[in-house]
Amino acid sequence: MILLVGAEKGGVGKSTIACNLAVHLAGEAVDVVILDTDTQATCAHFAERRNELGHRPEILCLQRTGDVGAALRDLARRYRVVVVDAGGRDSRELRSAIAVADLLLTPIRASQADLETLPTMNTLVNLAKPFNPSLQAFAVLSMAPSNPAIREVEEARELLADFDQLTLAKTVIRDRKVYRDALLGGRGVVEMGNGTARAEIQLLAQEFFEMEAASVNELLN
Ligand SMILES: Nc1ncnc2c1ncn2[C@@H]1O[C@H](COP(=O)(O)OP(=O)(O)O)[C@@H](O)[C@H]1O
Ligand SMILES: [Mg+2]
Repeated sequence: MILLVGAEKGGVGKSTIACNLAVHLAGEAVDVVILDTDTQATCAHFAERRNELGHRPEILCLQRTGDVGAALRDLARRYRVVVVDAGGRDSRELRSAIAVADLLLTPIRASQADLETLPTMNTLVNLAKPFNPSLQAFAVLSMAPSNPAIREVEEARELLADFDQLTLAKTVIRDRKVYRDALLGGRGVVEMGNGTARAEIQLLAQEFFEMEAASVNELLN
């Protein structure tokens, strides 16, 4: 399956979520590869650091720009999960990845300003749907204040109700220093001995991989 972590906006936690999901999956012995389509190469640098430091399992990260549709289809035949990191703008990479992805996760920060960037993502999903009818798209609250404030989640859900193509994920990724430390150290938070952050990534993966389990099994069989 192709899991696209994409947003029109930068600095919302796309690469952090992509790297952490990949490390979590690899740790569960899932055959996973990252395709980094962002010239900032956050995921590619992360994988390089991780592999140089000798952390196991190794994370394979390839880089590709432009139209990534064919590359993604090819990788999806060879890996069980392809995690795509698509840069912070309405780009060819983002559009071509949406056209072939099974699942789109759009990280949003729990602020009005970020939520206002959602119309573009909703439109991009709408444009892709005729070619990619099985695409499912979710917004994920990212870097949310670590004091659980139920109101902010409710507000996001209310705002998202206006967008027919985007549903709010149940799992909220909170602002935690361990996400920054892990990324710099070539680790996923699941490897950092921080139970709450580990649980967030595990829950995020569970939320989507259980949903996709049926179709993944179909692909495997
Ligand atoms: N949940 C989080 N908690 C704390 N810091 C985070 C979190 N997610 C991302 N960051 C930090 O915020 C910055 C931007 O995150 P990044 O994943 O690179 O965003 P994007 O890929 O959307 O541009 C990085 O310095 C990253 O370490
Ligand atoms: Mg990034």
